Amino acid sequence: MLTREALRRVGQEGQVVGLDLNEGMLAVAARTEPNVEWRLGDAASLPFEDASFDVVVSQFALMYFPDRVAPIDHARGYEILVDIAVRQCGREAADVLAAPFVLGDPTELGKLYAGSGIPGAKVTLHEGSIRFPSVTEFIRIEVKGSPLADMLSDDAMQALAAESEDALVEFVVPSGEIVMPMDAHIVTAGKG
Ligand SMILES: C[S@@+](CC[C@H](N)C(=O)[O-])C[C@H]1O[C@@H](n2cnc3c(N)ncnc32)[C@H](O)[C@@H]1O
Repeated sequence: MLTREALRRVGQEGQVVGLDLNEGMLAVAARTEPNVEWRLGDAASLPFEDASFDVVVSQFALMYFPDRVAPIDHARGYEILVDIAVRQCGREAADVLAAPFVLGDPTELGKLYAGSGIPGAKVTLHEGSIRFPSVTEFIRIEVKGSPLADMLSDDAMQALAAESEDALVEFVVPSGEIVMPMDAHIVTAGKG
């Protein structure tokens, strides 16, 4: 959890505030890390005065802010999942699953920062993989940890999981866990 790492770094003297618009995510976060001040809110209209913080960090969320969706590269498991979601849950839900990949082009990502008045943003690629205890758990976490939490019924989530069991079998390792390639872009910028 990103805020936990922030808390570790600021030590006793500092203060960490975490924001999300998903109440379920906040409830889990507050249980996991009670020493952070958790706030419900939208990153598009932050409930804070300008210049309230020394450092602002965001992990795996910026992609949800713009409402455009592009093809998925370098994340084959998600590509398969989005195809299933189109059939089982409709285009709108599938677009939410594809949203984390809309900023996959590092040049476009850098331009986004420059265009919003944050000059000198540096984009670096981190090649990694993600691991979940099972396919079913992967689907549950994807749905409950995203705006899909309010869009899909439990039946729709189970239909998605049932078809994904077969379709994602190539990523299941002998322990029964699922391990899929997943690259990430890290953006860093100074206060200017
Ligand atoms: C993949 S999760 C990442 C959660 C956390 N940042 C982390 O790294 O553990 C994406 C989160 O972004 C949140 N989110 C999406 N759009 C948002 C917005 N406009 N404002 C605030 N949070 C948003 C979702 O509710 C979800 O909890």
